[in-house]
Amino acid sequence: MTDEVTHMNATTATKVRVWDVPTRVFHWLLAGAFLGAWLTGDSERWRDIHVLLGYTMLGLIGFRLVWGLVGSRYARFSAFLYGPGRVLRYLDSLRRGRPEHYLGHNPAGSLAIFALLGLGILTTAAGYATYQELGGDWLEEAHELAANAMLLMVAIHLLGVVVSSVLHRENLARAMVTGDKEGASGDGIRRSHAWLGAVLLAAVAAFWYAYPQDRAATGDGAAAWVDGQRHEGRHRHHDDD
Ligand code: HEM
Repeated sequence: MTDEVTHMNATTATKVRVWDVPTRVFHWLLAGAFLGAWLTGDSERWRDIHVLLGYTMLGLIGFRLVWGLVGSRYARFSAFLYGPGRVLRYLDSLRRGRPEHYLGHNPAGSLAIFALLGLGILTTAAGYATYQELGGDWLEEAHELAANAMLLMVAIHLLGVVVSSVLHRENLARAMVTGDKEGASGDGIRRSHAWLGAVLLAAVAAFWYAYPQDRAATGDGAAAWVDGQRHEGRHRHHDDD
């Protein structure tokens, strides 16, 4: 655990690099993949895209787990792993209208971030197991439950981003795009690791490009699942008649 509260005044504040490129690429790809997976979740027609986006999410989170150990200063888990005391102190500072300023993730936001990563793993793992028919109906229900919990957590995350942005008078969403925030000079990261961001982006693009061929060549389970769905669909039509 580290003390990342920053103390600065108007004279020392300057623009510093906080989020490296891989973290930003990870974030926006994860957000997009989640949104896409959510929108395609109920449709048989978009099933392949839904599954593709689920794999993408799992791969991205896998990358983030490694980057959380070896990444740049503010991306490392050790930089935003706070105990309950710090979370309460931060929330209290918000309540008193004197919010503690963190250059990296604040303690309350960190909780949402760990929850999002954990729920992302649960949701995609349960989705994969459902798709591969590794268990009964309960797996599909677990998948839906985890996905709903994740949606709720995304809503809390977005609310937290808006509230913190207003209270701190800094646009946190823009910082997740540019990588920069106002801080004391010297507190920023020295390298943005743009090459790794490019590799991550290229890896996801290559996976999407290669996916249909891979899928055709794999998993009886996947094919059986699709067949099963079709079968179920036929029954449903039949019952409707
Ligand atoms: C328009 C939608 C979104 C916006 C504007 C947004 C904005 C942000 C911002 C500003 C941060 C940094 C918070 C801070 O300063 O401490 C952040 C972090 C994060 N957000 Fe989002 N977010 C969005 C959607 C999502 C979605 C849909 C997910 C998950 C499915 C997500 C997952 C995360 C994660 C995991 C982090 C931690 C980033 C890291 O350190 O790797 N976000 N988001």
